[in-house]
This record gives sequence, structure tokens and C-alpha cells, in this order.
Amino acid sequence: MRIASSDAGAGAAVTPPSRVAIRLGHAGQCFLRTRPGIERRMKSVAVFPRTRELRIINEPEPVIQSPTQLLLRILDVGICGTDREICAFEYGTPPQGAAHLVIGHESLAEVVAAGDAVETLRAGDLVIPMVRRPCTHDHCAACRAGRQDFCSTGDFRERGIKEAHGFMTEMVVEEERYLHRIPRTLRDVGVLVEPLTIAQKALIQLWDIQERLPWTCPHRSGRRHGHCRRAVVLGAGPVGLLGAMALRANDFETIVYSRDRAPHPKEELTRAIGASYVCSEDVAPADLAAHVGDIDVVYEAAGASAIAFEMMHALGANSVFVFTGVPGRRGPVQVDTDALMRNLVLRNQVVFGTVNAGHDAFEAAVRELEGFVARWPQAVSSLISASHPLENHRELLLGRPGGIKHVLRMAA
Ligand code: BGC
Repeated sequence: MRIASSDAGAGAAVTPPSRVAIRLGHAGQCFLRTRPGIERRMKSVAVFPRTRELRIINEPEPVIQSPTQLLLRILDVGICGTDREICAFEYGTPPQGAAHLVIGHESLAEVVAAGDAVETLRAGDLVIPMVRRPCTHDHCAACRAGRQDFCSTGDFRERGIKEAHGFMTEMVVEEERYLHRIPRTLRDVGVLVEPLTIAQKALIQLWDIQERLPWTCPHRSGRRHGHCRRAVVLGAGPVGLLGAMALRANDFETIVYSRDRAPHPKEELTRAIGASYVCSEDVAPADLAAHVGDIDVVYEAAGASAIAFEMMHALGANSVFVFTGVPGRRGPVQVDTDALMRNLVLRNQVVFGTVNAGHDAFEAAVRELEGFVARWPQAVSSLISASHPLENHRELLLGRPGGIKHVLRMAA
């Protein structure tokens, strides 16, 4: 019998443990699960980099192998630029020894069964799996501290992206420590938690940086915002719009800067959350400050380096520029490095990049998403342009479907 290991997914054939105690159902009863000879199969979306194929594979369902693991049914999987790059074979690595990688990293799942040592989750709970798993090097202080989002060796694994199978499948097995519970009220939009963690990790770091301005630091007195006043979001994709919501929720005057000309659903959504919208064809990036006033924060979410560096010229004093996009390599662009460096020094500016997220950002994202739904229910649901059956995966992953966030609904 082939059993999937938790992190490597359904690729590895290992000997199943003969007796693993798990709890099933709300009653929480315990029994031994052996299932000899029973093999349930499931569909997954996988890429085969060597043969450059994208296809549905049919493999055995994974089985819990240790008491700290849970069996999850995947409900929704979001599709993002990273998935499309993996399907274009520009990114992504299968698990060691496997020819394929099951893709998908933005997910929402339901607990089907929990191992006996699982403490905080039970069958029926809705959970968001984290994406990154630590490297194994003793000298990586970040991974050893449980902060693999800051891994210093680069030998981390990411489910659905790098050396570990992902969530575009029917069932997965996962360790309790990589799961975050969400309330049932977030069933329809919970798949947005993972992309929202990017903004939350950025904000956590922004607050820490702006501690350097103690006179504008109200969260010393209990409020965790108010250091900066005006933020520009570069890009109106899901990461940009979720970032704009997070900035608005933290009382920033927020301007979304995008190439899509209004009227446009993205502009409507921006206005619905109390932010304003500027089209890049109307105002050049370097002129934006003259148009909207001093800019305290730029949250870059477009992955386009030329426009981002142009925008850097518009940064105000004591400001922060956050990069979240991963650009393709389109060749060199001209940048006025003297002007940028002068501003960085003479205006105390900070530029940082941020990737992936830790537990603190996941917890904040769940909390914030609940707040967004209460405040802007319509805008939050309009972030999800459509939910599709698995059969639509090719057009979503290989085409340009338009809209904002497309989701594969794996189970109701
Ligand atoms: C994911 C992150 C991941 C990054 C780099 C993003 O699309 O949301 O979790 O760390 O890609 O692979």
C-alpha cells in the first residue's frame, strides 16, 4: 500500500504505521486506524517540469501517520501569479525524487480526522494551512525559532511551490502546528487569508520600523496604528487590494495606483473601502506626491520593478517602501541611483522586501478578514471573481482569466 508522507505529499511510497490513534467526529472518540487493503484515490493538479506538462493525476489519499497530524479535506484553493509562473515552468520544484509537483498554496480546508495528540483542532473545524516548512540546518536561527518565513539558508520547503506537494488536491495530511483555525462565518472568503498574510507581515514590520518615530507612535499607548498617514498601494491585484483593505483598517489615507483605467470593478472596490484610485496613465509615478500629498508608505504589490523604482522618487521624509512583488526578469531598466540614494539618506527612508508569513501574520489575517467582512461585506466578496470546478484548472492557470481572484472549489 502507498501512503503519502505529510510534507512530501502523495509522491512517496513508505511503509504505513500499523496503528495510529485518531479522533473522528465531534464526539472525539478514539480508535485505531489501519485500513489494510483499502485505498481511496483522489485527484490533484500537478506540473511535471521535465516534460513540461500540467495535468490532473490520480493518486491514493494520504493517511495520518503520526498523532500530531490531521487529515484535511481541501475546500477552496486560490490561484495566484506564483501558480501561473509554476505552470509556465519559470518557478517551482517537485519534492526530492518526484517527477511532479502538486501545486496550490492558498487554501481553505476542513478537518476530517485528528491524530490523538492534536490539542486544538477537531473534525469539522475550518483551517488555513501555512505554506512554508523550515530548513533543517542547525545554524538557521530563524527556522529553529519557528520563523521559517525568515529562513536564512534558502533550504526551506513551500507546499505547492518548492519541494513539497501543495493543496490543489482533495485530501492532505498536515501537522497541527502549521494550521490556523478560522470561524465558519469565513467559509466563503477564508481562502483570502493566505494572500492577506503578506500585508499583515508587512504591517507588523512597518510598525516595528516606525518605532523610530516615537512622537508618532500611539501604539505605545495601546493603539497599534497612526504612525503614518498616507499610503500608496502599487497594483490592484488581490495582494494590492487586500493590502489596501489592511491599510484602511489601520486608518491610513490610502491611494490605489494601478494601470487599469476607471470605471473599472477594481476602482469601484477601492472606493467602497474608502480609498482613492489613481490610474498610472493619468499621473506618472514620480508625480504622485504632487497629486496626493506626502507619501508615508508605499506598499508595492505589482511585481513591476521599473514603475516601483520610479515611485520611490515620490517617497516623503521618514517614509517606508515595502516590496512584496516578485518581478520576472525582463532585462535592465534605467534608474537614477544618485537621486534615490540622496533621498534615502537625507530623508531617513527605509526600503524593505517581505515574503511569506509567520504565525503572528496568520493570526492577524484571520482577525482582520473578519473585520473586513463586517465593514465591507460586498467589497470582500467581490475580491473573489469566480469559484470554478477542478476541470477549469487549465484555462485559469495557463490563460489570463481577468477579474481579481479566481478560486478552485475542490469540495462544497
Ligand atoms: C506565496 C508565499 C511564498 C512566495 C514565494 C507567494 O506566492 O504566497 O507563501 O513564500 O510565493 O515562493
